[in-house]
Amino acid sequence: MRPQEIIRKKRDGGELSREEVASFVGGVVDGSWADYQASALLMAVYLTGMTTVEMEALTQAMLGSGEVLDFSDIELPKADKHSTGGVGDKTSLVIAPLVAACGVAVPMISGRGLGHTGGTLDKLEAIPGYRVHLDLDEFRKILRGVGYAMMGQTAEIAPADKKLYALRDATETVESIPLIVASIMSKKLAAGLGALVLDVKTGSGAFMRDEGRAKALARALVRTGHSCGVHTEALLTDMSQPLGAAVGNANEVQECIRIMRGDSGEEARDVRELSVELSARMVALSGVAASLEEARKQVNRALDSGAALERFRRNVEEQGGNPRVCDDPQILTDLTVEEVRVESVHAGYVEAIDAAEVGRAVAGVGGGRVRVEDRIDPAVGYIAHARTGQQVSAGEPLGLLYCRKGAQAAAAAARIRAAYTVGEAAPNHVPQLIKEVIAQ
Ligand code: URA
Repeated sequence: MRPQEIIRKKRDGGELSREEVASFVGGVVDGSWADYQASALLMAVYLTGMTTVEMEALTQAMLGSGEVLDFSDIELPKADKHSTGGVGDKTSLVIAPLVAACGVAVPMISGRGLGHTGGTLDKLEAIPGYRVHLDLDEFRKILRGVGYAMMGQTAEIAPADKKLYALRDATETVESIPLIVASIMSKKLAAGLGALVLDVKTGSGAFMRDEGRAKALARALVRTGHSCGVHTEALLTDMSQPLGAAVGNANEVQECIRIMRGDSGEEARDVRELSVELSARMVALSGVAASLEEARKQVNRALDSGAALERFRRNVEEQGGNPRVCDDPQILTDLTVEEVRVESVHAGYVEAIDAAEVGRAVAGVGGGRVRVEDRIDPAVGYIAHARTGQQVSAGEPLGLLYCRKGAQAAAAAARIRAAYTVGEAAPNHVPQLIKEVIAQ
């Protein structure tokens, strides 16, 4: 099949056959498609879209470009969660042990943070000694023994995605929904899952800020999951302010451990609520509970009884981390870090927060990556005190910034302050955490 014919068909709005999609992906991986031809097809997809059948074919072809992990020797059902990312989005750390404690194995392949969004692997590495580079045998052993294991993407998983993502990045085609769907699903499905729950975020700190586009993405992900034979659901959730109070790697781990210890307060209520709901849906979709209501009860019991914390402790131990963090999360606090108050200039109500700006400010003081090769300082971060709708007085801290001496603390604090819009009247709309469930 000549690339030109496939490009022309898509350019003219036609539906590519499974063979044509496979020929494209195969050609990208073996180099028989030139980069300019692959880029032309990506642009044609960006402009004319793809049907569900094409998205499924693209996902399967990208999945098939690499290794598909086989955990069929582990008899438990297998499920995972994927979030499109945000600021303070730390639920994976609670969800994996919580779902494992309910009898569902979670082979979680996670990513690193870039730009304003954090990454699960960076958060885990805030625990001294924790290793995310596991070989497959070790990953399998921990998954079998603990019920969940965490590692990063390997070069063997969906190699077509790496190549295609680089071309998308260079051709301004990253934002195409079919291309995002195939990219996410080909990597997630490589872990051999029976169930997948997607947390699609919308709002100022989300990858898809616009709610309509986020919803379209959620629908396309769910439809593609179903057509690949995986029980899939998506929650459309709020990312118009940081999730929970903690932003930054050690801070976020501490917040999660406190949730699992039952020590967290109002500041972490949204993290707890979202973690419970996503977990319950993973448990229900895996067929371990008779209904969603039953799954919610099971998940709440596993959290309240300390069963999730025990799984977390065993995982930390197995992956080389210091399990004492479970008893005393405070040991992750680096006392050499400076605390800077980010104060409100005016009295009034928090009308809106530019969550991405908060994330970028934290990344700028070393808590995230501005460039892929940046090293992360786990100890720096931000603890948000004021939430949308909250009344604040002039001089009251909106939050506390933790950074190194000389790390442009004043500029970072000013950037975070400017991310808050404080108005005179209470906003008549406070964002809802879970906006919609998409099951079809
Ligand atoms: N995340 C992915 O893994 N791929 C995309 O294309 C976008 C977000």
